[in-house]
Amino acid sequence: MTPAPATTQNDVAARDDVAWWRRAAVYQVYVRSFRDTDGDGVGDMAGIVEKLPYLRDLGVDAVWVNPFYPNGGRDGGYDVSDHCDVDPRLGTLEDAERVIERAHELGLRVIYDVVPNHVSWEHPWFIEALAAGPGEPARDRFHFREGSGPDGAEPPNNWRSFFGGPAWTRVGESRWWYLHLFDEGQPDLNWEHPEVLERFDDVLRFWLDRGVDGFRVDVAHSIAKHPEWKDLEPGQDALEVGAEEHPYLDRDELHDIARRWRRVLDEYDDRMMVAEAYVHRTRRPLYVRPDEYHQAFNFEFLSVGWDADALGEMIPTVTAAAHEVDSTPTWVLSNHDQVRHTTRLGLPPDVNAKEWLLDGPHEALDAKLGLRRARAMALVMFALPGSAYVYQGEELGLPEVWDLPPSALRDPTWRRSGGTEKGRDGCRVPLPWEADAPNFGFGGEPWLPQPPRFRGRAADVQAGDPASVLELYRVALELRDRWCIEDEQVDLLDLPNGVVGFARGSGLRCIINMGDEPFTLPDGEVLLHSAGPAHTDGADLAPGDAVWLA
Ligand code: NOJ
Repeated sequence: MTPAPATTQNDVAARDDVAWWRRAAVYQVYVRSFRDTDGDGVGDMAGIVEKLPYLRDLGVDAVWVNPFYPNGGRDGGYDVSDHCDVDPRLGTLEDAERVIERAHELGLRVIYDVVPNHVSWEHPWFIEALAAGPGEPARDRFHFREGSGPDGAEPPNNWRSFFGGPAWTRVGESRWWYLHLFDEGQPDLNWEHPEVLERFDDVLRFWLDRGVDGFRVDVAHSIAKHPEWKDLEPGQDALEVGAEEHPYLDRDELHDIARRWRRVLDEYDDRMMVAEAYVHRTRRPLYVRPDEYHQAFNFEFLSVGWDADALGEMIPTVTAAAHEVDSTPTWVLSNHDQVRHTTRLGLPPDVNAKEWLLDGPHEALDAKLGLRRARAMALVMFALPGSAYVYQGEELGLPEVWDLPPSALRDPTWRRSGGTEKGRDGCRVPLPWEADAPNFGFGGEPWLPQPPRFRGRAADVQAGDPASVLELYRVALELRDRWCIEDEQVDLLDLPNGVVGFARGSGLRCIINMGDEPFTLPDGEVLLHSAGPAHTDGADLAPGDAVWLA
């Protein structure tokens, strides 16, 4: 093994002073699909506890757990009916505490997912609001508006739901409608209401008091709404923000709310919050100013695809923007809302992966190429300064399960889009732990069917195989600790078209070949090759591969 770069006593001291979240490798657990210990086919909190040693051995620093709270079952747990308890299907409050406790024993941090934009229509507040009737104060915690047109039979304005259709649902035959930027079972909260603000402070403290290290804040960019309910302009994108003002996305008012939460977190030591904010790149730094979020997800890395120019432009720009406000960049290749990157990267460049799920042509997928590129992109992600967010199963090279039958689909997108968008189930299929166990060791009959091709990707067949994706992740994470976190410097290398490379302060250089021709590597010892240990001697870097050079 190559020795780590020399470290002085001072460097070591400085390392300990650096907040953990600035350079963490965070593993995202989609709990329903992670590990089922009670055999009901749905992953649970005890399953996380059981697999924490696996995550420690993988070498990550923290675990982010998707929502596990009691919910209305409309959106994979993002329709919360009680923020301070656990969905009985997934365990108990003690289990959620045990996750934190056991993770800490193993030296891992824990990030829980909080959902401030909306609640479930089964939340006591919404039940109370419906029962109270028009004009009653209980309705003020939500956005109830009178409809337009005669009898108020048309929605109050033209806002759209992220899951398809209007963002409004009518209350019975009345003139009143309520706002839901997501499913109709997810009414939006009114963040100008003092009780909403106060209750959420309590929710944060509830989990902080139990030792959670941080929060992932769901749709942090949609919490504030236009005060006069302005319509979307003709041609304005309903679901994405540009740099211009939008009536319900990325509004300036939401920053006061973030500051309020930050003050709550600052009552405790060493806690963090990361914003899920799909915003224009020029706006992202606003979310991570020193008195707001600690970090925000950088989804540009995920959408850059296999494009050397875009990657080479994005890395320094995004890094500098984060550093300017004293944050660090984040890198995300996959999550529970996106087509898995092993599949995305195997599609021709002009194919929109989400549309391809339904429309195909499915023969256009080159799965082998996708996996090769996914391995290379992982090396880029782990070599960059800042935090890397790994979605469960990507360390196994899992592909998207694009061929789930319609009868199996659970994502509200499928229903609300009238069957024109397949939705996100294909990246949420339960993990294969053991090739030869029933349900590949996940537990009971999985809530989404696992395809037979998952067998070859099971964790137990990959463990110990130096050529596997799992071992690539393990080795990369081990080397990352020694080569990639000492400082936050990144310097782009001057390389031919199609090849992107950068150097870190430690002397590590990461080079990825996104072109069509082999690239002759500069001098240096190959620490890690994305194609596996058998390739560490080659002088040429083949298209589709990446290396770390010392
Ligand atoms: C973003 C979450 O990641 C997604 O899964 C969810 O459907 C929406 N927010 C609504 O909460």
